[in-house]
Amino acid sequence: MPNAPRLETRDLVRRFDGTAVVDHVSLSLEPGNVTCLLGPSGCGKSTTLRMIAGVEMQDSGEIYVDGNLVCDTVFRVPPERRSIGLMFQDFALFPHLSVGENVAFGLKGAGSERKARARALLDRVGLVHYIDEYPHQLSGGEQQRVALARALAPRPRIMLMDEPFSGLDNRLRDGIRDETLDVLKEEGSSVLLVTHEPEEAMRMADEIALMRGGRIVQQGAPYNIYNAPADKEAVAFFSDINVLRGTVRGALTETPFGQFLAPGVPDGQEVEIVFRPQHVSIDFDRNGRGPNPTDMAGTPARGVVERARFMGSESLVEFRMDFDGGVLRATVPNVFLPSRGTPLWLTVRRDRCFVFPVERSDAA
Ligand SMILES: Nc1ncnc2c1ncn2[C@@H]1O[C@H](COP(=O)(O)OP(=O)(O)OP(=O)(O)O)[C@@H](O)[C@H]1O
Ligand SMILES: [Mg+2]
Repeated sequence: MPNAPRLETRDLVRRFDGTAVVDHVSLSLEPGNVTCLLGPSGCGKSTTLRMIAGVEMQDSGEIYVDGNLVCDTVFRVPPERRSIGLMFQDFALFPHLSVGENVAFGLKGAGSERKARARALLDRVGLVHYIDEYPHQLSGGEQQRVALARALAPRPRIMLMDEPFSGLDNRLRDGIRDETLDVLKEEGSSVLLVTHEPEEAMRMADEIALMRGGRIVQQGAPYNIYNAPADKEAVAFFSDINVLRGTVRGALTETPFGQFLAPGVPDGQEVEIVFRPQHVSIDFDRNGRGPNPTDMAGTPARGVVERARFMGSESLVEFRMDFDGGVLRATVPNVFLPSRGTPLWLTVRRDRCFVFPVERSDAA
């Protein structure tokens, strides 16, 4: 079917003991794109992937590849005929097969063709010199790259990867992530990569599908998810947050930092104004006065330093605010470690604040 998504799930549901751990998940992957399924532990990511792979049956919903139904609750294409490659955290190479035989394992056709394809992929991941060695002779990172080559060898239209990098140490991981991404892009597979790490998703994804409590709460480009988050939790998933409360009057809410727009929010509705520490600016106290208000930064508000910590590339400063005694956090590039009790003035980038209505159930 022309222009059909490479992979599509419609309203996938999986229940365990009566609870929906995957709750009407509808996802769509474009050819050649990397989509990250991102969410906290236990939100249903692996279960979603397992249903797509065909190793777990959904209670309802459908899965399509290139517009063709591969699975609903009646009809089911077996896993090996879905053109889906798999790579999981606990990937296992076959210990009794050589590296080359591992990569060629899932391939059909003549021996020479299979061998050539295995050689080409091992060459691509920089391990062709290990072709006749055995898995136990390779480091963890090298085994990971062999597993990638093996998963890609049959030219799957879709690659499903479940936390494939979590077994690697940090320094190795960045290199292997980038390398993997390059190989996946060259091979043209569509990738659905599961992770609970926002940095990994930001680094790898063309699209992020943010999952929570079995549901997709937002899907979009990393830039959009970061800068136009769907709710407070979506902001908090990527960074520390600051929260102010206010009540809307005439599509505006007044705060100690000035007015914030709340378009479309009815009068009397309580809202939370959510912003990240990196969008707080700090200015010096001038005998009890701060900088002049501006359109962009609004009104300054005074706080005193509660603590300041050096985090490596930035410093994190916590303030106790004069206006309500609450705590706000600011990050400052490089080293900025004012001593406890120092009065300073804070302003907030108004265009980087998110205003969300407070739902009754979570009203304080
Ligand atoms: N076979 C099963 N029987 C009962 N409950 C299950 C089963 N498989 C998963 N669950 C439950 O479903 C929920 C979602 O599990 P899943 O493995 O999909 O989460 P996840 O998002 O991959 O988490 P993590 O990031 O920790 O891997 C969890 O509460 C889990 O305990
Ligand atoms: Mg999981």
